[in-house]
Amino acid sequence: MTAPGEILHTGAAEYPGLDTWRSLTLAQQPDWRSHEDFDAAYQQLSDNPPLVFAGEVDRLKRRLAAVAQGEAFLLQGGDCAEVFDEITADRISGKIKTILQMAVVLTYGASVPVVKMGRMAGQYAKPRSSDEETRDGVTLPSFRGDIVNQYEFTEEARIPDPKRMLTGYNKSAATLNLIRAFTEGGFADLRAVQQWNKGFMDNPAHAQYQQLAGEVERAVKFMHAAGVSSDSLKRTEFYVGHEGLLLDYERALTRIDSRTGAPYVTSGHFIWIGERTRELDGAHVDYLSRVRNPIGIKLGPSTTPETALQLIDKIDPEREPGRLTFITRFGASKIRDGLPPVVEAVRDAGHQPVWVTDPMHGNNINSANGYKTRRFDDIMDEVRGFFEVHKAAGTYPGGVHVEMTGDDVAECIGGSDPIDESAFDDRYESLVDPRLNHKQSLELAFLLAESLKGVK
Ligand code: TRP
Ligand code: MN
Repeated sequence: MTAPGEILHTGAAEYPGLDTWRSLTLAQQPDWRSHEDFDAAYQQLSDNPPLVFAGEVDRLKRRLAAVAQGEAFLLQGGDCAEVFDEITADRISGKIKTILQMAVVLTYGASVPVVKMGRMAGQYAKPRSSDEETRDGVTLPSFRGDIVNQYEFTEEARIPDPKRMLTGYNKSAATLNLIRAFTEGGFADLRAVQQWNKGFMDNPAHAQYQQLAGEVERAVKFMHAAGVSSDSLKRTEFYVGHEGLLLDYERALTRIDSRTGAPYVTSGHFIWIGERTRELDGAHVDYLSRVRNPIGIKLGPSTTPETALQLIDKIDPEREPGRLTFITRFGASKIRDGLPPVVEAVRDAGHQPVWVTDPMHGNNINSANGYKTRRFDDIMDEVRGFFEVHKAAGTYPGGVHVEMTGDDVAECIGGSDPIDESAFDDRYESLVDPRLNHKQSLELAFLLAESLKGVK
């Protein structure tokens, strides 16, 4: 038998350096290499077909290059953490519909092409502040997401199980299959704009959407009557991305592209590095610097200009258009002071990454009744701050990254149909971070469209 970690380093021979990460500091991983099922699970993943293809990944990079140039806008949305049991047609279509609605609000409202991306089909692993959790004197491993262990607080549920990577792969394949069917097979046809709103309740944001959808419909009908018929009205590209946290999973799903001889992570099109794992000398930065996917890096309020520049040198030494996305999550109260030095330093170094705002993660608070929540006003305020900072710096505010769902949950406070804390007991579903519900997502899209108009 081969020792764990020694097996099947797919492509390592052709691509030296692909396993350097194994000797570096590797934060936020389960302790499971000696699990009796680890080798078999890793082997199986390595043998499985890729979930996405190198050509798609390259196409996304070209789209992101256009975003970096100020010619398009990136919309990323989905759950904080996907949940195996919630991989159902209803929930997935709800999320896709919501993202399509947000996209059409932006495309029509701000006349800008939108690159659509789900935080989906692989967003299963979570970083934790502590390796262990203690309740009533019992200490167990922390919940690290469905791809590692189970949320339930029992020893059996919490012991990391490498076979869960295979379930994660299968759930991701099923999700992607539905996404491809929906977005290529007529569901995303612009003539269906009204239908995406069906099933969502009455609310000011919905009325506003209804009106916009009516205008889009008229425009599409007009084009049709005038003899303009284009496939592009019927279809849309839809990409998926997730945090590249669990390196055993990402490594096992890395493939060498036969056209270019270069390695691609094939678990998703876009991979980001979290705020907690972006150590310059750490395993995550090293590994993702060696694959060809477009890479995101989350930047929190402690980010210095030097760190941002060093990360550029590590991940994007060639300054390749579309390669690097900085996703800033400073918090509403810190963005206006904290972000400018970072943006200015990057700008002055002559680099043009995609700049994205994540207005969620810097705005966590605890509600009086014990829930992790966010104020909708803070989220909107961080978005406004993001536009202000980029306007002042002369850089392009290229996108938004949100935790959202198509469901009518109550997890974030506020909005035009205000959610308050009393709704949490009934309609708070997230096991991790609070998400925008359908209405709040649409409302945010309208604010974004207004703000973007000011940029054009
Ligand atoms: N293909 C175009 C695009 O993706 C137009 C389009 C088709 C579209 N379906 C859509 C735009 C759904 C937004 C939402 O932008
Ligand atoms: Mn989160």
